Amino acid sequence: MGHETLDERKQGRMTKDGIRIYDREDFAGMHRAGALAAQILDDIAPLVAPGTTTGEIDAAITQMVDEAGATSATIGYKGYQHASCISVNHVVCHGIPGEKRLKDGDILNVDVTVIVDGWFGDTSRMYAAGSLSRKAERLVQVTHDALFKGIEAVKPGNTFGDIGFAIQAYVEAHRMSVVRDFCGHGLGRVFHAPPNVLHYGRRGTGAVLEPGMFFTIEPMVNLGRPETKVLADDWTAVTRDKSLSAQFEHSVGVSEDGVEIFTNSPGGKFHPTSG
Ligand code: MF3
Ligand code: CO
Ligand code: CO
Repeated sequence: MGHETLDERKQGRMTKDGIRIYDREDFAGMHRAGALAAQILDDIAPLVAPGTTTGEIDAAITQMVDEAGATSATIGYKGYQHASCISVNHVVCHGIPGEKRLKDGDILNVDVTVIVDGWFGDTSRMYAAGSLSRKAERLVQVTHDALFKGIEAVKPGNTFGDIGFAIQAYVEAHRMSVVRDFCGHGLGRVFHAPPNVLHYGRRGTGAVLEPGMFFTIEPMVNLGRPETKVLADDWTAVTRDKSLSAQFEHSVGVSEDGVEIFTNSPGGKFHPTSG
Protein backbone atom coordinates (compact mmCIF):
# COMPACT_ATOMS: atom_id res chain seq x y z
CA MET A 1 0.00 0.00 0.00
CA GLY A 2 2.75 2.43 0.98
CA HIS A 3 4.25 2.49 -2.50
CA GLU A 4 0.95 3.12 -4.22
CA THR A 5 0.44 6.75 -5.16
CA LEU A 6 -2.78 8.60 -4.39
CA ASP A 7 -3.44 8.75 -8.12
CA GLU A 8 -3.24 4.98 -8.51
CA ARG A 9 -5.61 4.42 -5.61
CA LYS A 10 -8.10 6.93 -6.96
CA GLN A 11 -7.98 5.58 -10.52
CA GLY A 12 -7.92 1.89 -9.65
CA ARG A 13 -5.79 -0.83 -11.15
CA MET A 14 -4.84 -1.40 -14.78
CA THR A 15 -4.11 -4.85 -16.27
CA LYS A 16 -1.07 -5.59 -18.45
CA ASP A 17 -3.37 -5.17 -21.46
CA GLY A 18 -4.21 -1.64 -20.34
CA ILE A 19 -7.71 -2.55 -19.18
CA ARG A 20 -8.86 -0.53 -16.18
CA ILE A 21 -10.27 -2.39 -13.18
CA TYR A 22 -12.98 -0.29 -11.55
CA ASP A 23 -14.12 -0.51 -7.93
CA ARG A 24 -17.41 -1.84 -6.57
CA GLU A 25 -18.62 1.75 -5.91
CA ASP A 26 -18.06 2.59 -9.58
CA PHE A 27 -20.80 0.18 -10.73
CA ALA A 28 -23.43 2.57 -9.31
CA GLY A 29 -22.17 5.43 -11.49
CA MET A 30 -22.31 3.22 -14.58
CA HIS A 31 -25.83 2.09 -13.71
CA ARG A 32 -26.97 5.73 -13.50
CA ALA A 33 -25.44 6.65 -16.85
CA GLY A 34 -26.62 3.45 -18.49
CA ALA A 35 -30.17 3.88 -17.19
CA LEU A 36 -30.43 7.37 -18.70
CA ALA A 37 -29.19 6.22 -22.12
CA ALA A 38 -31.65 3.30 -22.00
CA GLN A 39 -34.53 5.53 -20.84
CA ILE A 40 -33.93 7.79 -23.82
CA LEU A 41 -34.07 4.80 -26.17
CA ASP A 42 -37.35 3.77 -24.52
CA ASP A 43 -38.79 7.28 -24.87
CA ILE A 44 -38.08 7.79 -28.57
CA ALA A 45 -39.96 4.61 -29.54
CA PRO A 46 -43.27 6.41 -30.32
CA LEU A 47 -41.43 8.76 -32.71
CA VAL A 48 -40.11 5.97 -34.89
CA ALA A 49 -42.61 5.60 -37.70
CA PRO A 50 -42.82 6.07 -41.46
CA GLY A 51 -42.66 9.80 -42.27
CA THR A 52 -40.41 10.83 -39.37
CA THR A 53 -36.91 12.05 -40.26
CA THR A 54 -33.84 10.75 -38.46
CA GLY A 55 -33.01 14.39 -37.68
CA GLU A 56 -36.28 14.74 -35.76
CA ILE A 57 -35.44 11.68 -33.68
CA ASP A 58 -31.99 13.07 -32.96
CA ALA A 59 -33.44 16.46 -31.96
CA ALA A 60 -35.70 14.71 -29.44
CA ILE A 61 -32.68 12.86 -28.05
CA THR A 62 -30.70 16.09 -27.70
CA GLN A 63 -33.58 17.59 -25.72
CA MET A 64 -33.91 14.53 -23.46
CA VAL A 65 -30.18 14.54 -22.64
CA ASP A 66 -30.47 18.23 -21.84
CA GLU A 67 -33.56 17.90 -19.67
CA ALA A 68 -31.86 15.16 -17.69
CA GLY A 69 -28.99 17.56 -16.94
CA ALA A 70 -26.61 15.15 -18.63
CA THR A 71 -24.11 15.57 -21.47
CA SER A 72 -24.04 13.94 -24.89
CA ALA A 73 -20.79 12.04 -25.37
CA THR A 74 -21.03 12.21 -29.15
CA ILE A 75 -21.60 15.94 -29.74
CA GLY A 76 -18.08 17.25 -30.35
CA TYR A 77 -16.55 13.76 -30.37
CA LYS A 78 -13.98 13.79 -33.21
CA GLY A 79 -16.05 16.50 -34.88
CA TYR A 80 -19.34 14.57 -34.72
CA GLN A 81 -22.25 16.98 -34.24
CA HIS A 82 -25.22 14.90 -33.11
CA ALA A 83 -26.53 13.27 -29.93
CA SER A 84 -27.10 9.95 -31.69
CA CYS A 85 -26.09 7.80 -34.60
CA ILE A 86 -29.06 6.55 -36.62
CA SER A 87 -28.25 3.77 -39.06
CA VAL A 88 -31.01 2.78 -41.48
CA ASN A 89 -31.20 -0.50 -43.48
CA HIS A 90 -27.79 -1.15 -45.12
CA VAL A 91 -26.06 1.41 -42.90
CA VAL A 92 -23.93 -0.61 -40.50
CA CYS A 93 -23.18 2.11 -37.92
CA HIS A 94 -22.42 5.82 -37.44
CA GLY A 95 -25.32 6.96 -39.62
CA ILE A 96 -25.67 10.74 -39.36
CA PRO A 97 -29.18 11.97 -38.48
CA GLY A 98 -30.65 14.31 -41.07
CA GLU A 99 -33.43 14.94 -43.55
CA LYS A 100 -33.89 11.28 -44.44
CA ARG A 101 -37.54 10.28 -43.94
CA LEU A 102 -38.29 6.78 -42.64
CA LYS A 103 -40.48 4.62 -44.83
CA ASP A 104 -42.58 1.55 -44.16
CA GLY A 105 -40.39 -1.51 -43.66
CA ASP A 106 -37.19 0.33 -42.69
CA ILE A 107 -35.07 -1.04 -39.87
CA LEU A 108 -32.89 1.36 -37.93
CA ASN A 109 -30.37 1.35 -35.13
CA VAL A 110 -30.35 4.29 -32.74
CA ASP A 111 -27.14 4.60 -30.71
CA VAL A 112 -26.94 7.00 -27.75
CA THR A 113 -24.06 7.71 -25.38
CA VAL A 114 -24.53 10.02 -22.40
CA ILE A 115 -22.26 11.24 -19.64
CA VAL A 116 -23.71 11.38 -16.10
CA ASP A 117 -21.42 12.58 -13.30
CA GLY A 118 -18.46 11.66 -15.48
CA TRP A 119 -19.69 8.12 -16.24
CA PHE A 120 -20.42 7.00 -19.81
CA GLY A 121 -23.55 5.02 -20.75
CA ASP A 122 -23.50 3.67 -24.32
CA THR A 123 -26.34 1.63 -25.81
CA SER A 124 -28.14 1.04 -29.08
CA ARG A 125 -31.16 -0.88 -30.29
CA MET A 126 -33.05 -1.69 -33.45
CA TYR A 127 -36.39 -0.10 -34.28
CA ALA A 128 -38.88 -0.86 -37.02
CA ALA A 129 -40.70 1.76 -39.09
CA GLY A 130 -44.03 0.19 -39.94
CA SER A 131 -44.05 -3.51 -40.68
CA LEU A 132 -40.98 -5.52 -41.57
CA SER A 133 -40.21 -8.15 -44.15
CA ARG A 134 -39.53 -11.60 -42.75
CA LYS A 135 -35.83 -11.38 -43.55
CA ALA A 136 -35.48 -8.00 -41.80
CA GLU A 137 -37.36 -9.35 -38.78
CA ARG A 138 -35.09 -12.38 -38.69
CA LEU A 139 -31.89 -10.30 -38.98
CA VAL A 140 -32.94 -8.10 -36.07
CA GLN A 141 -33.85 -11.08 -33.89
CA VAL A 142 -30.60 -12.95 -34.61
CA THR A 143 -28.55 -9.81 -33.89
CA HIS A 144 -30.34 -9.28 -30.57
CA ASP A 145 -29.87 -12.90 -29.58
CA ALA A 146 -26.20 -12.78 -30.64
CA LEU A 147 -25.60 -9.88 -28.25
CA PHE A 148 -27.03 -11.99 -25.43
CA LYS A 149 -24.88 -15.00 -26.42
CA GLY A 150 -21.94 -12.63 -25.96
CA ILE A 151 -23.23 -11.32 -22.63
CA GLU A 152 -23.73 -14.89 -21.37
CA ALA A 153 -20.01 -15.48 -21.94
CA VAL A 154 -19.09 -12.63 -19.58
CA LYS A 155 -17.76 -13.95 -16.28
CA PRO A 156 -14.43 -13.86 -14.47
CA GLY A 157 -11.99 -16.39 -15.93
CA ASN A 158 -13.51 -16.40 -19.41
CA THR A 159 -11.70 -14.43 -22.13
CA PHE A 160 -12.69 -11.77 -24.63
CA GLY A 161 -12.22 -14.44 -27.29
CA ASP A 162 -14.98 -16.46 -25.62
CA ILE A 163 -17.35 -13.50 -26.11
CA GLY A 164 -16.42 -13.11 -29.78
CA PHE A 165 -16.66 -16.83 -30.39
CA ALA A 166 -20.13 -17.07 -28.85
CA ILE A 167 -21.41 -14.23 -31.04
CA GLN A 168 -19.79 -15.43 -34.26
CA ALA A 169 -20.87 -19.04 -33.82
CA TYR A 170 -24.47 -18.00 -33.27
CA VAL A 171 -24.60 -15.56 -36.18
CA GLU A 172 -22.92 -17.90 -38.66
CA ALA A 173 -25.16 -20.79 -37.62
CA HIS A 174 -27.98 -18.58 -38.91
CA ARG A 175 -26.12 -17.98 -42.21
CA MET A 176 -25.52 -14.31 -41.49
CA SER A 177 -22.18 -12.52 -41.09
CA VAL A 178 -20.42 -10.61 -38.31
CA VAL A 179 -18.90 -7.23 -39.19
CA ARG A 180 -15.12 -7.21 -38.51
CA ASP A 181 -14.44 -3.52 -39.16
CA PHE A 182 -16.01 -2.19 -35.94
CA CYS A 183 -15.89 -3.52 -32.40
CA GLY A 184 -16.99 -2.92 -28.84
CA HIS A 185 -14.74 -1.08 -26.40
CA GLY A 186 -13.81 -0.49 -22.81
CA LEU A 187 -15.60 2.50 -21.25
CA GLY A 188 -16.21 4.01 -17.83
CA ARG A 189 -14.94 7.48 -17.10
CA VAL A 190 -13.94 7.59 -20.79
CA PHE A 191 -15.87 6.82 -23.97
CA HIS A 192 -13.47 4.48 -25.73
CA ALA A 193 -10.70 2.61 -23.89
CA PRO A 194 -8.94 -0.77 -24.20
CA PRO A 195 -9.76 -3.45 -24.98
CA ASN A 196 -11.21 -3.74 -28.48
CA VAL A 197 -14.12 -6.11 -27.94
CA LEU A 198 -14.25 -8.21 -31.11
CA HIS A 199 -17.53 -9.84 -32.08
CA TYR A 200 -15.74 -12.84 -33.59
CA GLY A 201 -12.87 -14.95 -32.35
CA ARG A 202 -11.62 -18.13 -30.84
CA ARG A 203 -12.33 -19.62 -27.43
CA GLY A 204 -9.67 -19.00 -24.82
CA THR A 205 -7.92 -16.20 -26.74
CA GLY A 206 -7.54 -12.58 -25.68
CA ALA A 207 -7.41 -10.98 -22.25
CA VAL A 208 -8.94 -12.79 -19.28
CA LEU A 209 -12.08 -11.16 -17.84
CA GLU A 210 -11.75 -9.84 -14.29
CA PRO A 211 -14.31 -8.30 -11.93
CA GLY A 212 -14.39 -4.53 -12.40
CA MET A 213 -13.86 -4.48 -16.17
CA PHE A 214 -16.42 -2.23 -17.93
CA PHE A 215 -16.98 -2.51 -21.69
CA THR A 216 -19.56 -2.56 -24.47
CA ILE A 217 -20.67 -5.47 -26.59
CA GLU A 218 -22.23 -4.21 -29.81
CA PRO A 219 -22.32 -6.77 -32.60
CA MET A 220 -23.15 -5.63 -36.12
CA VAL A 221 -24.64 -8.42 -38.24
CA ASN A 222 -25.19 -8.40 -42.02
CA LEU A 223 -27.61 -10.49 -44.04
CA GLY A 224 -24.97 -10.66 -46.77
CA ARG A 225 -21.20 -10.34 -46.69
CA PRO A 226 -19.34 -8.80 -43.74
CA GLU A 227 -17.39 -6.11 -45.66
CA THR A 228 -18.15 -2.45 -45.04
CA LYS A 229 -17.09 0.89 -46.45
CA VAL A 230 -17.24 4.40 -45.04
CA LEU A 231 -18.97 7.05 -47.16
CA ALA A 232 -17.46 10.41 -48.17
CA ASP A 233 -18.95 12.06 -45.04
CA ASP A 234 -16.24 10.11 -43.14
CA TRP A 235 -18.78 8.59 -40.71
CA THR A 236 -21.52 6.56 -42.38
CA ALA A 237 -20.47 2.90 -42.64
CA VAL A 238 -22.47 0.78 -45.08
CA THR A 239 -22.39 -2.81 -46.23
CA ARG A 240 -20.37 -3.11 -49.45
CA ASP A 241 -22.94 -5.49 -50.94
CA LYS A 242 -25.85 -3.21 -49.86
CA SER A 243 -27.31 -6.01 -47.72
CA LEU A 244 -29.30 -5.15 -44.58
CA SER A 245 -27.37 -4.71 -41.34
CA ALA A 246 -28.45 -4.67 -37.69
CA GLN A 247 -26.83 -3.91 -34.32
CA PHE A 248 -27.62 -3.99 -30.61
CA GLU A 249 -25.34 -2.59 -27.90
CA HIS A 250 -25.16 -2.89 -24.12
CA SER A 251 -22.62 -1.47 -21.68
CA VAL A 252 -21.72 -4.13 -19.12
CA GLY A 253 -19.49 -4.72 -16.10
CA VAL A 254 -17.85 -7.95 -14.98
CA SER A 255 -19.05 -8.79 -11.46
CA GLU A 256 -17.56 -11.28 -8.96
CA ASP A 257 -19.52 -14.13 -10.50
CA GLY A 258 -20.88 -12.94 -13.83
CA VAL A 259 -22.09 -9.75 -15.46
CA GLU A 260 -24.12 -6.62 -14.72
CA ILE A 261 -25.84 -4.90 -17.63
CA PHE A 262 -25.73 -1.11 -17.15
CA THR A 263 -28.06 -0.21 -20.02
CA ASN A 264 -31.13 -2.34 -19.34
CA SER A 265 -34.38 -0.78 -20.54
CA PRO A 266 -36.24 0.78 -17.58
CA GLY A 267 -39.47 -0.02 -19.47
CA GLY A 268 -38.40 -3.57 -20.25
CA LYS A 269 -38.50 -2.94 -24.00
CA PHE A 270 -34.94 -3.40 -25.26
CA HIS A 271 -36.32 -5.75 -27.90
CA PRO A 272 -38.71 -5.41 -29.42
CA THR A 273 -38.89 -1.67 -28.91
CA SER A 274 -42.26 -0.24 -29.84
CA GLY A 275 -44.16 2.89 -28.96
N1 MF3 B 1 -21.81 5.10 -29.67
C1 MF3 B 1 -20.86 4.62 -30.65
C2 MF3 B 1 -20.22 3.40 -30.04
O1 MF3 B 1 -20.93 2.49 -29.78
C3 MF3 B 1 -19.83 5.65 -31.02
C4 MF3 B 1 -20.39 6.79 -31.75
S1 MF3 B 1 -19.17 7.95 -32.00
C5 MF3 B 1 -19.94 9.09 -32.94
O2 MF3 B 1 -19.07 3.33 -29.71
F1 MF3 B 1 -19.15 10.10 -32.95
F2 MF3 B 1 -20.16 8.58 -34.14
F3 MF3 B 1 -21.10 9.40 -32.40
CO1 CO C 1 -20.07 1.65 -28.09
CO1 CO D 1 -22.84 3.15 -29.02
